Amino acid sequence: MAPLQNFVLLVLLTITLGLVTEAAQKHQAIPSEKEKNELERQLKAINKPAIKSFKTEQGDIFDCIEIHKQLAFDHPLLKNHSMKPTTVPEWITSNNIPGKVDSLLLLPDGINCPDGTVIVKRTTMQDLLHAQRLKSMGFNGPRHFLTEKNNTDGTGQYYVATVNYGPKSFTGVKGHLNLWEPQVSQDQISLAFIAVAGGPKERFASIFVGWMVNPSLYHFSQDHVRLYTYWNIEGSNPGCYDITCPGFVQVSKNIPLGSFLQPLSVYNGSQYDIDLTLYQDRVKGDWWFAYNHENVGYWPASLFKAARFENRANYASWGGQVYSPLIEKTPEMGSGHWPSEGLGKAAYVNDIRIIDGMGNFLYPEPYSLKEHETSAKCYRAMYVHENRDPWVRALYYGGPAGCIG
Ligand SMILES: *[C@@H]1O[C@H](CO)[C@@H](O)[C@H](O)[C@H]1NC(C)=O
Ligand SMILES: *[C@@H]1O[C@H](CO)[C@@H](O)[C@H](O)[C@H]1NC(C)=O
Ligand SMILES: *[C@@H]1O[C@H](CO)[C@@H](O)[C@H](O)[C@H]1NC(C)=O
Repeated sequence: MAPLQNFVLLVLLTITLGLVTEAAQKHQAIPSEKEKNELERQLKAINKPAIKSFKTEQGDIFDCIEIHKQLAFDHPLLKNHSMKPTTVPEWITSNNIPGKVDSLLLLPDGINCPDGTVIVKRTTMQDLLHAQRLKSMGFNGPRHFLTEKNNTDGTGQYYVATVNYGPKSFTGVKGHLNLWEPQVSQDQISLAFIAVAGGPKERFASIFVGWMVNPSLYHFSQDHVRLYTYWNIEGSNPGCYDITCPGFVQVSKNIPLGSFLQPLSVYNGSQYDIDLTLYQDRVKGDWWFAYNHENVGYWPASLFKAARFENRANYASWGGQVYSPLIEKTPEMGSGHWPSEGLGKAAYVNDIRIIDGMGNFLYPEPYSLKEHETSAKCYRAMYVHENRDPWVRALYYGGPAGCIG
């Protein structure tokens, strides 16, 4: 089947899936025979033939897929383009890699994909049902970090605690995201992110990367803290996650999106973080994602042409976000503790930097980062800037569960 047809099929099936949501809302998610067939067709379109597969103790399946046959290329805008970035930022080739982050386990031993393939977490029917269920509840993805909407609207409660940067012109961001497992209920989401955005208001494009706790989306695992990416263009692309939508071109054989992250930080104990970077190829305009200094993949510039996001970002954001259905109390954000408790207790984002038009990694001017809290009563952001390491530009953010906004 031609890629375009596949894409159209996906869109159609996504619409068809709306039918399933009523059952899903009752926590049953038992599709009819017909719906099941539709889901299976959709899965077939999403999960490409694997050269090799692995199953983890958590029940996740990882497939090694030929790089040119991955789902990304089902996107109609991604037909003719090459796989390599044309400018590799200096830091990727430098040896200046901190040892701490490398000890994080992303995959169990023994999982390795052959050359010429990429590693992809296999999408399951449960994944589709639960993603659809969230959508039916009104959660389409992380909320745009600039808009000052109500914390509560017809579909749910959303809270954000971040530092924001912009409007400016720059080509990337980085940060170390402290890893925690905030407590959430089945239908709630708590996430940490770094994000870039730009383009005109009606076509605002954004890219988020970070970790997410979302029992619905990652149903089978006991380990809920997952690496995720999300991209969105207001008014056109409805937004979708790492594994279930075309667009993101995976290049890594080692770092699958959607894999669970460990070890997690302990309150008043050991702290762990992941080093995330979003940077733009300054020649082609592609947006790259690097995890602990390894290139995971990229969103080709052609996805963002209509949004005029293919050259330079205008805004950046670092911090946390939660979503809850209206009928439930809010979940924890970050470590579930207030920023004022500080290191070892509150969740942090450290080493906040931006990448300028020349590809230099810079600490933003102290005054150029602004705290942003949609409800200071529920969750807070505390911006920290010092003149020397290790907290030159950093953020503590979060708060406990059970707030009434
Ligand atoms: C892609 O490349 C092929 C061969 O180079 C060409 O025939 C085709 O028109 C191109 N398609 C697009 C959408 O640019
Ligand atoms: C926020 O919510 C209040 C009460 O529900 C409503 O009156 C107001 O119009 C809302 N504001 C926005 C910007 O949606
Ligand atoms: C944190 O750890 C220290 C040293 O182990 C201990 O003395 C202190 O009581 C702990 N504080 C809390 C709030 O658990």
